[in-house]
Amino acid sequence: MNLKRSKKISDCEDPVWDTIKAYDTATEDYCRKTLSSGDRDFQEKMMDRTLNMLPSEPQILDLGCGDGRDAAYLTDRGADTIGMDLSKEMVKLARKKFPELEFIRMDMRELGLNKDHFDCVWASASVIHIPGEQLRELEREIIRVLKPGGIFAFSYKVGQGEGFEYGESMKDKKRYFVYHTEKSIRNGFDELEIIDVVEYPGNILGSSFAYCWMK
Ligand SMILES: C[S@@+](CC[C@H](N)C(=O)[O-])C[C@H]1O[C@@H](n2cnc3c(N)ncnc32)[C@H](O)[C@@H]1O
Repeated sequence: MNLKRSKKISDCEDPVWDTIKAYDTATEDYCRKTLSSGDRDFQEKMMDRTLNMLPSEPQILDLGCGDGRDAAYLTDRGADTIGMDLSKEMVKLARKKFPELEFIRMDMRELGLNKDHFDCVWASASVIHIPGEQLRELEREIIRVLKPGGIFAFSYKVGQGEGFEYGESMKDKKRYFVYHTEKSIRNGFDELEIIDVVEYPGNILGSSFAYCWMK
């Protein structure tokens, strides 16, 4: 599948684009750090919980897939998974680590993918980079590619506000982070309904996270 060129990709004013530059330059180091410091068992439990909501052998889109670790896990459990990420280097790394899987480079706000195709869109710690005012645009794309009744499952940073920060996992590069409450999720994704929210019992690299399921 080819990358659909969108105006976002060339727009240097876009905070997402600056964030992608950070992922493009610190790719392997970032992935090593998050693998050793994140709670992988909990993450896998959240993916299992998601799979339990889906038909067998579901079609899943891993949105902002990073190095592809979740796409690989979901595929091992019977899903037909495609990973997508806007960072060229992340996609390159994911293809190297999991050559048997499909990874595409694309902006989640402008998915060049067929409508009504996926049973689930899974987005682990990637919606955290999308400015609040762009969530509706993102929601439109997610609804378009989901089958009717499909599930949008994602994790978010718990809190309020948004802006550039030096995160724990990439201390020398600024990325744009957006914090959410259930209320801001409801406002941002107002066409979807929250089915469940689970807070991570602790913090990952200094941040509180929650997982949310919508349909
Ligand atoms: C914190 S990392 C999480 C990676 C992976 N999902 C995980 O949990 O390990 C955020 C990822 O989202 C990607 N990303 C950020 N904005 C994006 C966008 N607009 N479209 C696609 N990917 C995006 C980044 O390139 C990065 O790989």
